[in-house]
Order: sequence, then structure tokens, then C-alpha cells
Amino acid sequence: MTTPSPLTQDELKALVGKAALQYVVPGAIVGVGTGSTVNHFIDALAGMKDQIRGAVSSSVASTERLKALGIPVFDANEVESLAVYIDGADEIDGHGCMVKGGGAALTREKIVAALASRFVCIVDESKLVPALGRFPLPVEVIPMAAQHIARRFAALGGTARMRLRDGQPLVTDNGQHILDVTGLSITDPLGFESQVNQWPGVVTVGVFAHQKASVGLVGTTQGVVKTFTY
Ligand code: 5RP
Repeated sequence: MTTPSPLTQDELKALVGKAALQYVVPGAIVGVGTGSTVNHFIDALAGMKDQIRGAVSSSVASTERLKALGIPVFDANEVESLAVYIDGADEIDGHGCMVKGGGAALTREKIVAALASRFVCIVDESKLVPALGRFPLPVEVIPMAAQHIARRFAALGGTARMRLRDGQPLVTDNGQHILDVTGLSITDPLGFESQVNQWPGVVTVGVFAHQKASVGLVGTTQGVVKTFTY
């Protein structure tokens, strides 16, 4: 008897991306995140595009993918609220608090999440953590404040590095830069997010605790598991 080979991480992402379709409200506009897991969701969403009005997107990359598949994309200013926002995460704890921003889209992700009544987080099982802090924390910053903010993280025991692309500071969809911070222990995600949000020059900190996930869908080798619902 042969043992079935374990699913790859990308296959787990595809599984959970497809499972998120059950949360899409027919006739409504859906909030769409960014990343490789969300790309699977977008591809699956194309199969029901005639049943939705369209999407509000959290990045240029997701907008391009949605449009290429014939899904209308609305500006966030055109909608008052969304029933649901679907996005991935770099890590998520058992309470739905997340670290996000590995794809540099954290600011728009937080904005679209804020419009939604429900945040459905879709991840493969490697993203589950007992406490936040394993993944380097992305922080979008105004370029002139980068060194000052790096020193503030150093005072908390962290090390901030400018994210580079082709040897130059990466420029986000909003024209800003990203610091990736290691060495932090985020024991109080809500308090930490509030604290860093106050620092001049911080556009968005990648801790999502004030807008934590309300549903956690996890792709595992045993199938898709719902970890919590708030
Ligand atoms: C982008 C994000 C993504 O949700 C996060 O990086 C996870 O990405 P992936 O699904 O590719 O693992 O926050 O800014």
C-alpha cells in the first residue's frame, strides 16, 4: 500500500483559498487581500463572478489579477461597508491576531479590513503560532522617519532592516518604505499596535489586533479546518 504524498504548501494555500468562497455573500462586493494564498482565492472567485457585484482590492497586484479575470474592482471610497474581507497572514495566533505585510500591502489591507464586518483569514498550517513575533514584523514608514523609527524599535530590543528590492528600498503602492523588525516579543498585540501607531512617521504597523480575524480557515494535510469564529 502506498502512502499518499503530503500536500505542498502551495496546495494547502489553494485548498484554503477555495474554501473561502463559502463566505462570499451573493450579490455583494467582497474585500480582497493580497498574497499567494489570496491569489488562489481570486482564481476561485472568478468561477462565481456572475454572482457578486465585484471587489474592493488591497493592492495593485490583486487589482490587476481581479481585473484580468473579469471581476469589477471598486475604489474603497465607493463603498460604505463590506460584509466580508478575505486575506492571508504571515502568522496568526489562537485569538485571531495576525502579523501581515510580507507582501508590503499592509496599509491598504488594514483599510479594506476596516470596512468589513467580518475578516476571514486564510492560511496554511505553517502560519499558526502560539504568540506573534516569529515572522519579521513589517512596518510601513515615511522614508524620512525610517532611522528614527529603527532606533525606537532598537529600544524595545528589536532590529529593524529596510526592505530592499533590486538593492534599493522597496517602494510600496503608497510610495513609502517598509522596515522588517526582528527580535520583538509581542505579548500584548493590542497594546503593541496602539503604541507603534503613535510614533511619528509610522504609516501602518503589521500587527492586526484591533482588526483581528473573525474567522480562521487553515489548510492542513487533513483538509481545511476552521480554528475560531468571533
Ligand atoms: C501581504 C500579506 C499577506 O497576507 C501575507 O504576506 C501572506 O502571504 P502569502 O499568502 O503569500 O503567504 O500580508 O501584505
